[in-house]
Amino acid sequence: MKHLVAPSILAANFNNLDKEVKLVNNSQADWFHLDVMDGLFVPNISFGIPIVKHINKIAKKPLDVHLMIENPSNYIEKFKNCGADILTVHYEACKHLHRVIENIKKNNMKAGVAINPHTPVNLLKDILKDIDLVCIMSVNPGFGGQSFILQTHEKIKKLAKLKIENNFLIEVDGGVNIDNAKEIIKSGADVLVAGSSVFKSENPESAIDKIKNLS
Ligand code: DX5
Ligand code: ZN
Repeated sequence: MKHLVAPSILAANFNNLDKEVKLVNNSQADWFHLDVMDGLFVPNISFGIPIVKHINKIAKKPLDVHLMIENPSNYIEKFKNCGADILTVHYEACKHLHRVIENIKKNNMKAGVAINPHTPVNLLKDILKDIDLVCIMSVNPGFGGQSFILQTHEKIKKLAKLKIENNFLIEVDGGVNIDNAKEIIKSGADVLVAGSSVFKSENPESAIDKIKNLS
């Protein structure tokens, strides 16, 4: 399968958000990656429901919503109603992960589970058949612009071995750029999230296309 690219809007210019969304529409990006942070699960606050709703009005590609929040189960329906297509919750934020996943799917969204750098992929083993996407964090969540943690390659490779007929996608999130993307794909990533390397570059559209066209 050709890898997917999901630009992270966290790094976009919010003075002209509409323009940034349209730029992604016009690029070869596959999804929009939207980082929701609550200042509790992670030491930062980003944006929430009104912004996701607004982006959804302009976006012509699926919304991949990454919840870095406590108690994500309280917000599943709300994110469905503002346009999320894929809803990813953190393993570390869910006491009853199976129930949360079922609930996401009942709401007709794809269910994703994200794991922090310290969380071993093996902990997902018993639930892999129920989920559509695993997001391996390659930085500590909370901020854009951090460096890719190199040990992530081993985690991607381990997780790729646990796939049964490509039943879930492996997404890699944090510090992805044109120089390391090829290696990350080679390790087994299906979806590359890229924030700063896209929006802080001189030509974000071509930065997206360059990552997409790697083989
Ligand atoms: C980090 C977020 C990432 C972030 C990636 O907490 O989950 O999606 O936007 O940004 P870069 O690509 O700048 O590391
Ligand atoms: Zn993210």
